[in-house]
Amino acid sequence: KNPNEQVDSFDDEDLIDKLPKDKHWESVEIYQWRGYWFIPEMIKSTLALPSHFHPRDDDILLASSLKVGTTWLKSLCTNIMHKQDVLTKVSPHMHIPTIESMIFVNDPFALLSKIPSPRIVHTHLPYTLLSDSIKNSKCKIVYITRNPKDTFISLWHHSNNTVDGIIIKKPLSLEKAFEYFCNGVYIQGPFFDHVLEYYLESLKIPNKILFLRYEDLQRNPKGEVKKLALFLGRPFCLESEVDQVLGNCSLERLKNLEVNKIGRNKYNGLPNAVYFRKGIIGDSRNYLTQEMEERLDEIMRVKFQGTGLDL
Ligand code: A3P
Repeated sequence: KNPNEQVDSFDDEDLIDKLPKDKHWESVEIYQWRGYWFIPEMIKSTLALPSHFHPRDDDILLASSLKVGTTWLKSLCTNIMHKQDVLTKVSPHMHIPTIESMIFVNDPFALLSKIPSPRIVHTHLPYTLLSDSIKNSKCKIVYITRNPKDTFISLWHHSNNTVDGIIIKKPLSLEKAFEYFCNGVYIQGPFFDHVLEYYLESLKIPNKILFLRYEDLQRNPKGEVKKLALFLGRPFCLESEVDQVLGNCSLERLKNLEVNKIGRNKYNGLPNAVYFRKGIIGDSRNYLTQEMEERLDEIMRVKFQGTGLDL
């Protein structure tokens, strides 16, 4: 019997042990559940979420895998929804919490119900693991993704910069980390399946899921931010508002705000500063060998073949 099937209704520690097991970044134990890798706490919180998180029709759910521009998306959405800059004192990750990270604080689900409407929350969960209540509600989903080469390099830097946090206990060489990334064996991996699921759903239900790319936001910021605001039901009236939001959410500005230089994420304990690095397209060329690039191209070719998805 597939061990994944047995765990669907578990309330017993032991059942987790029946799942395929590995180590994230050679540090904490992770388990493969329904095609993706998680620490046990996140499997539990994912299973508990539907009975505690009741989607409201005007909820907005941001979704992403790791290191694809989530912080930027959270900043933009916060500015668009508030119609003013509220990022000077509070990190984008505190304005828009990642729901499964809330498990690291007491009574996470109570916090969720206290957020006033319209709520914006974020998840790293793959589409298949979203609850039916989310899928069937009128709430909207904005998904962001990024080229896997830059995503991987961003992940490698982020992970090696967060050694001694809750998750990472030691730095990993580029070569080892690359192997784990290609095989999808890391928290929330595999990247390719995560993207493909949301992409295919966004084609089926474009009014519910907006699929964004980090590179499009970089190359055509005004056009993409207008599209985002329209989707969120907060279209801009003036061109100057678009410029204002983009300026408020620029990497340089956010990186230099005091709150992001010295503050910490209260859910996962990480310094806010680790979420801001270079923010450019093509940084991976400075790190990956030609062979590594070809391997990622080949994975994408096979995985995305016939779907129209190109990253
Ligand atoms: P790099 O590591 O390539 O610099 P996430 O927010 O999903 O963790 O992704 C982090 C990546 O987004 C990092 O990429 C980071 O520098 C970049 N980033 C963070 N804030 C940004 C912003 N306001 N504008 C553009 N890129 C941003």
